[in-house]
Amino acid sequence: MGAINSVLQEHRVFEPSAETVSRATISGMAAYKALCAEAEADYSGYWERLAREHLSWKTPFTKGLNDSNAPFFKWFEDGTLNASYNCLDRNLENGNAEKDAIIFEADDGKVRRVTYRELHALVCRFANGLKSRGIKKGDRVVIYLPMSVEGVAAMLACARIGATHSVVFGGFSAKSLQERIEDAGAVAVITADEQCRGGKNIPLKSVVDEALGMEGTGSIHTVIVYQRTGTPQKTVEGRDVWLHELLAQQAEQCEPEWVGAEHPLFLLYTSGSTGKPKGVQHSTGGYLLHAVLTMKWTFDLKPEDVFWCTADIGWVTGHTYITYGPLACGGTEIVFEGVPTFPDAGRFWKMIQDHKVSIFYTAPTAIRSLIKAADVTASVHPRNYNLSSLRLLGSVGEPINPEAWMWYYENIGGARCPIVDTFWQTETGGHMITPLPGVTPLVPGSCTLPFPGIQAAIVDETGNDVEWGKGGFLVVKKPWPSMIRNIWGDPERFKKSYYPVDFSGKLYLAGDGAVRDATTGYFTIMGRIDDVLNVSGHRLGTMEVESALVANPLVAEAAVVGRPDDLTGEAIVAFVVLKQARPTGETAKAFAKQLQDWVAKEIGPIAKPKDIRFGDNLPKTRSGKIMRRLLRAVAKGEEIVQDVSTLENPGILDQLKQSI
Ligand code: WT7
Repeated sequence: MGAINSVLQEHRVFEPSAETVSRATISGMAAYKALCAEAEADYSGYWERLAREHLSWKTPFTKGLNDSNAPFFKWFEDGTLNASYNCLDRNLENGNAEKDAIIFEADDGKVRRVTYRELHALVCRFANGLKSRGIKKGDRVVIYLPMSVEGVAAMLACARIGATHSVVFGGFSAKSLQERIEDAGAVAVITADEQCRGGKNIPLKSVVDEALGMEGTGSIHTVIVYQRTGTPQKTVEGRDVWLHELLAQQAEQCEPEWVGAEHPLFLLYTSGSTGKPKGVQHSTGGYLLHAVLTMKWTFDLKPEDVFWCTADIGWVTGHTYITYGPLACGGTEIVFEGVPTFPDAGRFWKMIQDHKVSIFYTAPTAIRSLIKAADVTASVHPRNYNLSSLRLLGSVGEPINPEAWMWYYENIGGARCPIVDTFWQTETGGHMITPLPGVTPLVPGSCTLPFPGIQAAIVDETGNDVEWGKGGFLVVKKPWPSMIRNIWGDPERFKKSYYPVDFSGKLYLAGDGAVRDATTGYFTIMGRIDDVLNVSGHRLGTMEVESALVANPLVAEAAVVGRPDDLTGEAIVAFVVLKQARPTGETAKAFAKQLQDWVAKEIGPIAKPKDIRFGDNLPKTRSGKIMRRLLRAVAKGEEIVQDVSTLENPGILDQLKQSI
């Protein structure tokens, strides 16, 4: 497998097959261009038409875009709706009541099927349960649950009563949980006793207890606990309730709370280049519209499909393509509790075979690790499974290198299935640049063209368009319905992060570098231009990891950079100065292990540095600035070609070059 940097050298083109074109909702390039032209001619009118056609409104809106308070844009603001109504009730009304909404497969392989009627009843009881605990419209509720029917139901139950959910990935630490609870001012946490992953039980409730023992969490009055494993838990009288006991007392009907289209459906915390994770605030109407449209156009979802997005509900991919998108379209989807390598690395392929999955959406990191596993152990190679039910594949979260793309295309898709390489972000709510299966000729490593109506462009540092073939900053020129509305409690940071004055405050800055092919105009994403790392498709700020490291009493100073990694896309490398003398040999190894565990405890295992280097100091300019460019070169093992004459302490580099 080559380095991920080979992306730009790939030029093979894969045209859509006649069969794909004939069944696709958006069929052919002419249809795509017609949609783009419609948006060009009447931008707000285009999205208004789609919002009327694809969502069920309680009160119809009279206006699409309101840009009077830019960059705090509003969409469909005088319309009212409910997201859970759109995902559940309307499926009961249109003949999907007995259809499977969710096929849940547990870590141990047990399968549970839940119809739309059953999911509706569960969500209504859950919503009534929340109300019985005094939770109401506008309250924030933190969800810290494993992948489960209950996790999806918890989100929909919040939506049903107009409470704003904030899902925290189950791999985050007590400290990370505490920070999010405090920032959101949440009133309740919904959690489980434990989660099951890869044959192991991992605690959740005790992590919540630890978080709630910290300062700043006094707003929490209720903890609802889903009993997943039955391992006995400590409970706090008056605060903690078992989910099954709460549900047992509730009615199966719950009138949805009709909310304005701009009502915050959820907050989702994500990393930025500075400071603590930020609470990305999403709307109800605009967000849901894009979830539905992308399900229909990018994934070409049809009633008979079995859709499987392998993400966790703790990330935006799980929000849009597990909880909201598939259900709002009346689809049948897989919800998977476990991990791709348990009981062996054939798990995904076996599940596709068993459940006759037709649309499969996963991350390049997962593909790369399964390629490796299939190379080592022939029995988990996808050729041993019947994958003929598949008709469409998707990729998300990080650039997919052409080698992984080709393997995915040939070995999983049988050279029949188009791959949609979907570029988007927590902030964008849904796909922004992506092939459409019946439209776009595919080029491995390119996310191809913008979704119809999305005005993506590449500009230089003054905000002017660059020519095709030249790299620059990826921006979006017009506001779109599913965009981030605010950073919770920090509108200034919202403006600074996404509508910087460098671009006269008029362009949405994605934070990625990109280039368009000189002849086709296809986009290729070149990675983050800020201090945000992408490790296995997970977003982390270098500053966050640095803050965690320096919080350790042994550490005097730390600098963190990313390094390309064949498996995880990027890997974290930390340069550390201890308060005591620089350790070497076995001592250095022991310290490195201790610091890795520390970061896992402070943030979560996903933030563990892969490589830790110890120095007597860090390379600094005479004015005391850490030279990160140099550190990046050292981390990659590159020859140092930069001028180091301005370095205060050039000898440090030799120390830092040595891995331990
Ligand atoms: C960052 C956003 C999108 C949901 C999951 C990640 C990178 C995402 C792609 C892609 C190249 C991609 C970007 C982006 N990214 N998708 N198809 N090709 N890069 O959401 O955690 O908000 O991360 O992921 O760098 O800015 P996120």
